[in-house]
Amino acid sequence: METKLLTIDPKNIDEAALEEAAQLLRRGENVAFPTETVYGLGGCATDEGAVRAIFAAKGRPADNPLIVHIWQPDQVYDYVRCVPENAKKLMEAFWGGPLTIIMKRKPIVPDCVTAGLDTVAIRLPSHPVAHSLLRLCGCGIAAPSANVSGRPSPTIARHVLEDLNGKISMVIDGGVCDFGIESTVIDVTAEVPTILRPGAVSLEEVRALLGEAEYGGGGKGVPKSPGMKYTHYSPKAEVFMVKDPAHLNGLAKGKNAGILAYNAENGGFSASCVLSAGKDNFEYAARLFYLLRSFDEHGVEVIYAQMPQLGGIGDGVYNRLSKAAGGRIL
Ligand code: TXA
Ligand code: MG
Repeated sequence: METKLLTIDPKNIDEAALEEAAQLLRRGENVAFPTETVYGLGGCATDEGAVRAIFAAKGRPADNPLIVHIWQPDQVYDYVRCVPENAKKLMEAFWGGPLTIIMKRKPIVPDCVTAGLDTVAIRLPSHPVAHSLLRLCGCGIAAPSANVSGRPSPTIARHVLEDLNGKISMVIDGGVCDFGIESTVIDVTAEVPTILRPGAVSLEEVRALLGEAEYGGGGKGVPKSPGMKYTHYSPKAEVFMVKDPAHLNGLAKGKNAGILAYNAENGGFSASCVLSAGKDNFEYAARLFYLLRSFDEHGVEVIYAQMPQLGGIGDGVYNRLSKAAGGRIL
């Protein structure tokens, strides 16, 4: 299959050009598109063939459910049996934006989208290209991150092509994604609202809004968010998370190694490849997946990455990095 590349300027959207992508989606084909978090690989949410093709292109395990993307809050009622009070508050406060809400699903949502669960994940992105595409399509779009399963999520169109060229109908290039890590996933069907995946909408912000919220889903037993049990975000190089940046040079010495650290440009670091995580956690998040792939392009065999400071979006960076590192902390 030939994968078309369509470039759309998010600041000046050419809707006539974008209509071609919407048509492909309506016909049941798969199109990758930018969101404010990472690039997504879309297919019409109620078209089982389109959804199965997403799983096939990514090599994604069938028991890992997808997020349904919408452009108007009222569309939740197409897919969800009831919208709890807490969900209404979250939608009001954080949509469009990087928050995915898990609610009880309606039968219209195919089993292959939800992996047979009785819940469905819904997200209303803020990215103007995603927004226009969803509006032109008319239907909800099921979309996981547009990477081969297990690889770092793509934050630029070139990284989508690296993984999926020849396997999908189109990639829409809308530039670099703002946040760089995937949306916060929150389950409002639990007694206490439970964040299953940390992201740019933080535990602190959700607590301030709802009064209570907790992290969950990562413990023993059946994970509530099936995606949490898989290896993730792995570049070809081996990754280690390092607590004390003073140890980075020593670890990298004598190896074909990369160092990733805050403000690395002024840190006195020395390694085969030194890349900066930026000055704060928002920059670390925005660059993380991009830089993990860059280290591979530089051909390093091992990456030593400074542990992010916790709190806010830092929890999301910590979560992705510790998965990339297979939990190895030095
Ligand atoms: O920012 C994002 O969320 C991006 C962009 C493209 O929107 N999408 C994304 O999708 O990250 P994906 O498929 O890579 O991650 C979806 C996560 C997985 O961990 C999955 O297990 C979880 O959401 N999930 C989906 N439906 C669920 C459900 N019904 N119950 C619990 N977890 C669910
Ligand atoms: Mg993903």
